[in-house]
Amino acid sequence: MPTEFSLSAVRDATPGVDEVLHFNNAGSALPPQIVLDTVVDHLTLEATIGGYEAAAEVSARLDAVYVSLGHLVGAAPEHMAVVENATRAWDMAVYGYPFERGDRVLTSRAEYVSNVIAMLQLRKRHGIEIVVIEDDVHGQLDLDHLEAELVRGASMVAITHAPTNGGLINPAAAVGALAEQHDTFYVLDVCQSAGQVPLDVDELRCDVLTGTGRKYLRGPRGTGFLYAGPRALERIEPPFLDLHAAEWTSESTYEIRADARRFENWETYYAGKLGLGAAVDYALDIGIEPTAARIAALGARLRDELGSIDGVEVHDKGATRGGIVTFAVDGVDAEHVHRSLLEQRMNTSTSPAGHARLDLPHRGLPTLVRASVHYYNDDEEIDRFVAAVGELALTRSR
Ligand SMILES: Cc1ncc(COP(=O)(O)O)c(C=O)c1O
Repeated sequence: MPTEFSLSAVRDATPGVDEVLHFNNAGSALPPQIVLDTVVDHLTLEATIGGYEAAAEVSARLDAVYVSLGHLVGAAPEHMAVVENATRAWDMAVYGYPFERGDRVLTSRAEYVSNVIAMLQLRKRHGIEIVVIEDDVHGQLDLDHLEAELVRGASMVAITHAPTNGGLINPAAAVGALAEQHDTFYVLDVCQSAGQVPLDVDELRCDVLTGTGRKYLRGPRGTGFLYAGPRALERIEPPFLDLHAAEWTSESTYEIRADARRFENWETYYAGKLGLGAAVDYALDIGIEPTAARIAALGARLRDELGSIDGVEVHDKGATRGGIVTFAVDGVDAEHVHRSLLEQRMNTSTSPAGHARLDLPHRGLPTLVRASVHYYNDDEEIDRFVAAVGELALTRSR
């Protein structure tokens, strides 16, 4: 398997790999030591000199976080905001969009549960129409169907790049090209793809992009980010404003700030923000291209080997696939598989069917086990994991 970075160096820099086999990177990845140190050092500074004073002391480093996030997605820092998670980032943009009754929003079967719940509320509030784009033969969003719906007219395309419940990587740049051709606002959820595959807003041609810190970026929990392009800054008023997002200009007036930080709030998790910056710098330093290749290769190997076990079925779809592997063991409940593996210090999670109503039930699938690999995982871990799943499948069939 090709690695253009030192696997032993990244494992040495990841304290958690000595403790657990961690295949729950789509939940929350093991952070590198530099992220842990950055967060702890700032918390220590806050406890030593005071929270406001600590923030003032590191203000240049806090500003640099926006530059780092900008580098991650190919944007200028004034287009980046740091928010508490990907969901709130997405909400701040989409709930602030000036929808009118009858506006059509195009989404896909892979859309994230919270985004769909929000769309349903927006449908109730504003009378928007939600149109689900079908999958193509590979199981990715069908570009022909998307184009046909764009021709019929739409206000927004809102899709997820890489779903929470499978290996699929949707053709986000091709979607962006079509959205641009039809002058349609494009919101892209990169929560699972940030840190997993290269991202460039010029190639993706999205107006809004939302992500989280703790997953493939290996940042701290409770951190997220948002890119707002020129059209987003022009069109979207955040649903909530405060003294950070706007200025109180006279007793009865206020002015919303011009940059993407209008989507933030004043009080924030400073240690986490610095940790997010450290995680992005670490990822960019190793290189997203080589780590993306390794994640895809490890994912493909895990998929193949799990799929060759009698009684195990792998359920990932898509022409391009990443590090998230979903599977079922015949006759064994996904939660039981998850718990049995956990008892052996092997971390996975489950993908509940109720969290993927446009996809899993549509394919006749129940809740699945989700094993998500990162570039710091190694072949020995895959061997051990496959053997443990094989044992569970065998025990069941005895
Ligand atoms: C595709 C996708 N979008 C959004 C989210 C929400 O992210 P957060 O928990 O940071 O709000 C998740 C979380 O699993 C996700 O997988």
